[in-house]
Amino acid sequence: MNSKNTQTLVILGRHPAISLAEIRARFPNSKICARENAFAIFENIDLPDLKKIGGTVKAGLVFAHSLDFPLAQIAEFLANEFAEKSGKHNFALSLFPEENKTLKTLLVGVKKSLQKAGISVRFANKDFANLTSAQSTFEILKKDGVEILIAQSGKNWWLAKLTAVQPFENYKFRDYEKKFRDAKVGMLPPKLAQILVNLAVRDSEKLKVYDPFCGSGGVLVEAGLLGHEILGSDVDPRMLEFSTKNLAEFNFAGDLFLHDARQKSFKKFDVVASEGYLGPPRKTLPDENMRNKIFAELEKLYSDFFAWLDCRRVAICFPVYLENGAPKFFSSQTILPKIAKLGWKMQNSEKLIYARSNQVVGREVVVLAKN
Ligand SMILES: C[S@@+](CC[C@H](N)C(=O)[O-])C[C@H]1O[C@@H](n2cnc3c(N)ncnc32)[C@H](O)[C@@H]1O
Repeated sequence: MNSKNTQTLVILGRHPAISLAEIRARFPNSKICARENAFAIFENIDLPDLKKIGGTVKAGLVFAHSLDFPLAQIAEFLANEFAEKSGKHNFALSLFPEENKTLKTLLVGVKKSLQKAGISVRFANKDFANLTSAQSTFEILKKDGVEILIAQSGKNWWLAKLTAVQPFENYKFRDYEKKFRDAKVGMLPPKLAQILVNLAVRDSEKLKVYDPFCGSGGVLVEAGLLGHEILGSDVDPRMLEFSTKNLAEFNFAGDLFLHDARQKSFKKFDVVASEGYLGPPRKTLPDENMRNKIFAELEKLYSDFFAWLDCRRVAICFPVYLENGAPKFFSSQTILPKIAKLGWKMQNSEKLIYARSNQVVGREVVVLAKN
């Protein structure tokens, strides 16, 4: 367990606001000391590995904060790390935000400085670029090497020793090896499914997680892997069959039932984590009329659903349409005022958008709780 004022540098994923919201949910007592787009520095978080966090790419323990160019500090730290061991040592540096010229200066300078001190080293950075998660895993962690994460913001430099890398192979397996799926229903990335569960559950140990729009079961699989009880339903019997089969692949039983989410369910559960229903699949941006029609249908669906819902918290996605690669038309603008009248209020202070610029439909992640 990290001691109280230990600082942890976390390298955020492609959707930094969502990554941060997830960490804050899992560690409500954490304190954020610095934040840039690519990284954040926290006090009071304990991340021995990243298996249970979907939005963080790497994490490391901060060993120095400096207002000067940190070449000498990095060399000194590595010299200490390698002092007890003989042979040639592996090291790597990754700089955030990434900037190859500065990284090259540091890599070459640190190597020279260590060689001068009689320490034989090689660096794992290819083409003076930051290490990918795969490189950090195979070139550093599995080879007894040391990677220093360097975070820069204005004149501030933070130096951290890499301690954890996202288990990218597990996510790939869960994504591509999912046997039963329907491409038209959309492919929920396992990382986002895990994030939704974490946003709903927060720091609780074990809860009953319900996905009322469970589709092929992506969220339910992640809830099961995080150790929660699973409850799922869908209005489409074919999707329910996919869910049942996908859960069986992971040996999760779970309680699955055919159900229209607009109608009250008498099952008991603690939280809802769900991708939700994103409206009909689209390859092109709907015109205003079509958009209004889709948003009105979603407003009706979610008004009916939230009218009967009774649980601690909900983490769900509402669709957002992208224009020229940027999120532009938010269904949440129609849905949220309606469900606010039912007592459900948005808990996240920042907009949490999960989208790629080549998509037409993105997801807005919303965390809700009842007054
Ligand atoms: C975007 S998909 C969810 C995909 C899922 N997250 C997965 O991993 O496959 C939305 C699902 O909502 C279901 N759905 C749509 N309207 C519904 C309703 N009124 N009640 C329950 N399920 C509904 C659809 O059948 C579909 O499976």
